[in-house]
Amino acid sequence: MNGMRPVGSFALLQPLHQQTVACTLRALTPVVDSLYPRGSQLLAARLDDAVHGKARCTVAIANASVAALAVESPKGSRQLKLSTLWVAPHYRCCGLGTALIKRLRNRWLLTDVERVHLTACTTCVCELLALLERFGFRHQAVELNRYGEGRDEAVLIWRPEYCEPEAHSHLDWSCAAELASAPLPAQIRSPLTVTELVAGHPSEAVRRAPCRSSVF
Ligand SMILES: CC(C)(COP(=O)(O)OP(=O)(O)OC[C@H]1O[C@@H](n2cnc3c(N)ncnc32)[C@H](O)[C@@H]1OP(=O)(O)O)[C@@H](O)C(=O)NCCC(=O)NCCS
Repeated sequence: MNGMRPVGSFALLQPLHQQTVACTLRALTPVVDSLYPRGSQLLAARLDDAVHGKARCTVAIANASVAALAVESPKGSRQLKLSTLWVAPHYRCCGLGTALIKRLRNRWLLTDVERVHLTACTTCVCELLALLERFGFRHQAVELNRYGEGRDEAVLIWRPEYCEPEAHSHLDWSCAAELASAPLPAQIRSPLTVTELVAGHPSEAVRRAPCRSSVF
């Protein structure tokens, strides 16, 4: 398993590699610069973190360009910030956003993440929330004037207990080896091994996992 997975017939979800950084920045710069002060600078820093294992960036590549992107940064023990979640306009409404967030949620459940937060400008939060609510996010608060007068940010929070029960019982184990070999810094209390992920993990979901041997 190389960490790549087909999404529909046109894109692959995969970890960000150094070779993809430049085209990712090209695609996202206008978006993040329109939303946030120093948006592209901060995104460049996060992508650099991702390439160096300090954050996790998942991209979908289609026709040699970036069709979707999610960046997760560790924020203390078992907490993450989802700092970017974006699907290129041309690829929207065909399930790519769903595939991306499903993959992230699966990893959070497998690694016992307790809380994920995402902030989004109040003008684009509706479309994000329409997708994210299905996967265990709730609208928590609005931070007024976060980026200047009238530029409010909505705060969305994900917790495992906000997810429907099936999310806990239908986990996809195919990414366990990838997670064990590249845990985020906050998830390294002691080195995380595949064995721990599969067998020694404290959560009920892991203990109930079917067919361990078929996964690896
Ligand atoms: C929100 C977003 C990620 C959805 O991606 P997507 O690939 O179109 O999502 P999907 O095709 O999987 O659609 C999933 C659901 O999202 C909802 N949705 C998607 N686009 C929507 C829109 N424009 N308005 C309302 N709901 C929307 C629908 O409920 C849809 O479910 P349905 O197909 O059953 O109706 C995408 O529209 C996006 O990137 N928007 C911009 C977000 C942004 O600005 N990010 C940068 C800062 S973090």
